[in-house]
Amino acid sequence: MSILIKNGRIVTAVDDYHADIYTEGEIIKAIGRDMPMQADTVIDAAGKLVIPGGIDPHTHLDMPFGGTTSADDFETGTRAAAHGGTTTLIDFAIQTKGESTLAGLETWHAKADGKTAIDYGFHMIITDMEDDRLWEMKKLAEEGVTSYKLFMAYPGVLYVDDGTLYRAMRKAGEDGTVICMHAENGIVIDEIIKRARAEGKTAPKYHALTRPTRMEAEGVHRAISIAEVARVPVYIVHLSSADALEQVVLARDRGVHAFAETCPQYLFLDHSYYEQEGFEGAKYVMTPALREKWNQDHLWRGLQFGDLQSISTDHCPFCFKEQKELGLNDFSKIPNGAPGVENRMSLVYNGGVVGGRITLNRFVELTSTAAAKMFGMFPRKGTIAVGSDADIVIFDPNRKETISIDNPCTHHMRVDYNTYEGTEVQGFSETVISRGKVIVQDTEYVGRKGDGRFLKRGYYSGIKP
Ligand code: URP
Ligand code: ZN
Ligand code: ZN
Repeated sequence: MSILIKNGRIVTAVDDYHADIYTEGEIIKAIGRDMPMQADTVIDAAGKLVIPGGIDPHTHLDMPFGGTTSADDFETGTRAAAHGGTTTLIDFAIQTKGESTLAGLETWHAKADGKTAIDYGFHMIITDMEDDRLWEMKKLAEEGVTSYKLFMAYPGVLYVDDGTLYRAMRKAGEDGTVICMHAENGIVIDEIIKRARAEGKTAPKYHALTRPTRMEAEGVHRAISIAEVARVPVYIVHLSSADALEQVVLARDRGVHAFAETCPQYLFLDHSYYEQEGFEGAKYVMTPALREKWNQDHLWRGLQFGDLQSISTDHCPFCFKEQKELGLNDFSKIPNGAPGVENRMSLVYNGGVVGGRITLNRFVELTSTAAAKMFGMFPRKGTIAVGSDADIVIFDPNRKETISIDNPCTHHMRVDYNTYEGTEVQGFSETVISRGKVIVQDTEYVGRKGDGRFLKRGYYSGIKP
């Protein structure tokens, strides 16, 4: 199977030029002008951008959480991701408390194997880590799981104490792997929630009002400090506020190996969404919560100046009917999470590049290359180069669409609402190639369940702390 993409404008994190791309089998074989090759498929990309497939390093598919399970599984979630121009995602396998992390990995392999539209990897969520289990972390790394997520939030569920954080971090640092951190002081937040409930505060907006940004900043500061002592690179996930960002900036200025991602919801949505009529605000109950709008300028500045490295979605969809409704009478019972895997590339292009906030190269870096580098996939993924996987998106920078689950529908996620309903975006993924196979053609899905494969990721390739 070979593909020739002609006349496109190739944009990577560092390049921007017009050339043709020839792929053969699963990889990019040649890039040049007026190449003589014949191909099974020829795609005319005149007027379009030709960019590396998006990489979303933070999704939760088929995840038991909040008394239910996230609404997209590995089939529907990866198909929606493909529609949106994402060709690789890293999801989270979970260790059941007291049980082996390796057993957790097996469970998640069974959920995903043979079902996905695109390639995928796993971070491992560690829920306990006594000394006699530390050897498992090296084994996980050998299996291609070279990053772990630890939670300072959700006491009694995914939360781990600082001792566990330190043990896991030290071992991860020794092994050359990375720690991803959900940084919020869950213990204090739980006290605030308890008090709010006792005062009869039940509406969705209290989810946000009980999670102050200062408690996110405290978590970020503590996570980075422990990581510094444990000598491990730490990557703060779903960073949402100026207060939290300030802690990352201070640490980086001190030379600490601290990194962070933010998500479209924190760049485009804000606290006012919780003020909608009735129970509507539940659609936006996610953790961290949406912040006051002024935080967004700080996050964009972080993206512009390199203090934030990547944009993931934290895609964790729960249907409004029946799932979000679990918290109809109590905000603390609303499953935390929102959909977005399909909309990331268009939202970031529209708000970032069209909005004049980031360059085209930076757009590619933030949505693909940086995650490939951070999580042991570069240069196989995250760029367009001879020898790289042929994960390529033909992106129309001028096409305008209105994100909607209604007619005309742009929505393929298995959830009954879209967080960005009614938002007009300029810039849309039209044709998506995953490892040398067209899986989305002119916005129509033409791939098959099982096209995607598990990605054994490599070790952290940055300077070791
Ligand atoms: O609300 C969210 N983010 N749900 C998913 C779990 C997490 O904390 O990432
Ligand atoms: Zn989290
Ligand atoms: Zn998450």
